[in-house]
Amino acid sequence: MKPVNVGLLGLGTVGGGTFNVLKRNAGEIARRAGRGIQITHAAAREYDPARLPGIEGIKITQDGFEVVDNPDIDIVVELIGGYSPARELVLKAIANGKHVVTANKALIAMHGEEIFKAAQAKGVMVAFEAAVGGGIPIIKAIREGLAANQIQWLAGIINGTGNFILTEMRDKGRDFNDVLKEAQALGYAEADPTFDVEGIDAAHKLTILASIAFGIPLQFKKTFTEGITQITRADVEYAEELGYRIKHLGFARRTVKGVELRVHPTLIPERRLIANVDGVMNAVLVKGDAVGPTLYYGAGAGSEPTASAVIADLVDVTRTLTADPGNRVPHLAFQPNALSDIPILPMEDIETAYYLRLLALDKPGVLADITRILGDRGISIEAIIQKEATPEETRVPIILLTHVVREGQMNQAIERIEMLDSVEGRVKRIRLEHLTGK
Ligand code: HSE
Repeated sequence: MKPVNVGLLGLGTVGGGTFNVLKRNAGEIARRAGRGIQITHAAAREYDPARLPGIEGIKITQDGFEVVDNPDIDIVVELIGGYSPARELVLKAIANGKHVVTANKALIAMHGEEIFKAAQAKGVMVAFEAAVGGGIPIIKAIREGLAANQIQWLAGIINGTGNFILTEMRDKGRDFNDVLKEAQALGYAEADPTFDVEGIDAAHKLTILASIAFGIPLQFKKTFTEGITQITRADVEYAEELGYRIKHLGFARRTVKGVELRVHPTLIPERRLIANVDGVMNAVLVKGDAVGPTLYYGAGAGSEPTASAVIADLVDVTRTLTADPGNRVPHLAFQPNALSDIPILPMEDIETAYYLRLLALDKPGVLADITRILGDRGISIEAIIQKEATPEETRVPIILLTHVVREGQMNQAIERIEMLDSVEGRVKRIRLEHLTGK
């Protein structure tokens, strides 16, 4: 059978990896796909031919629209990232009847509904395994492998750059900006690295995971996002003293009232496997009602790990090129007319445990005032540490861990604690998830 012709948009970190892996493993990939898969046309504004042996054999243009309009191309692989012109290129490829493979989480999270609708109308596939978790086949695992289950919750370390920064800060005491620069040099970080450190990239990915896990529309704008820039070395050390690690976690849970969808720094018991996922590695913990907790782990960013997911999609699309569109796996796991309208909960209504850190005067009654404010709101305390005062410093850090409570209650309690004369400044709050198998 004649090989499938692929048009590649982007020859950067992931595009270059895709070109190299596809070339290196061409024979093995063809044995799996049933026919060869070859890149015949690529668009890139700049690229480094020294990193891409054999690139001279393919047509390279500057303009991506030349690739999507090329009648010889069967599948377009979009690896330029960002919202625009990626959206226009993908929609044009679909309009031209081409299948699409993309690693673009921002595009899918924001414009997925429009793109899937257009693809369905044209009977073409849009595959996006590489959009979440780099090389981990997490989309396929949830969409197909766990299809028997009601997914109850999922929790993921889904930004490699952020996890790399937190790990290096904790293990080597390195400076935030210095580690971020290294992540950029290694090709892990987004074009705008605030997407990584403020949790926007993780929120894009969580939006996609929640949609395929719960059968809900993509709702990026309703995802709560808090970054890691406020995490201090002191928080990391206090958390460790209490038996926890701080991770930047994406968390989605289905409750009777609605869906929790949130990305924020989170304390996790250090004995959990996911608490020990370090560096650029990602992991997603998924709890299904039948299977129980399952964990998926691997490189969350980088050239060839992400290429691995892109090429898996190419193989999938190639195998099903001739299948009846109605019998293909739905883009978002559930049939498009069977999505649920269960609401996304406002943060006031989510339920979680908390780590609180505050600075208070070391005098009788201070701790009693704080615990009374919490107790009056039904907030039960799991642990307290009060650090010793020094001769020069009369204020002492107090660290509290609470049991699970509605966030609205906690907001009121924090407001009251901050009003106490004996408490200085703001109360630092980090959410805490036990991630037990329940
Ligand atoms: N900037 C992303 C990360 C790339 O660091 O995880 C992979 O999506």
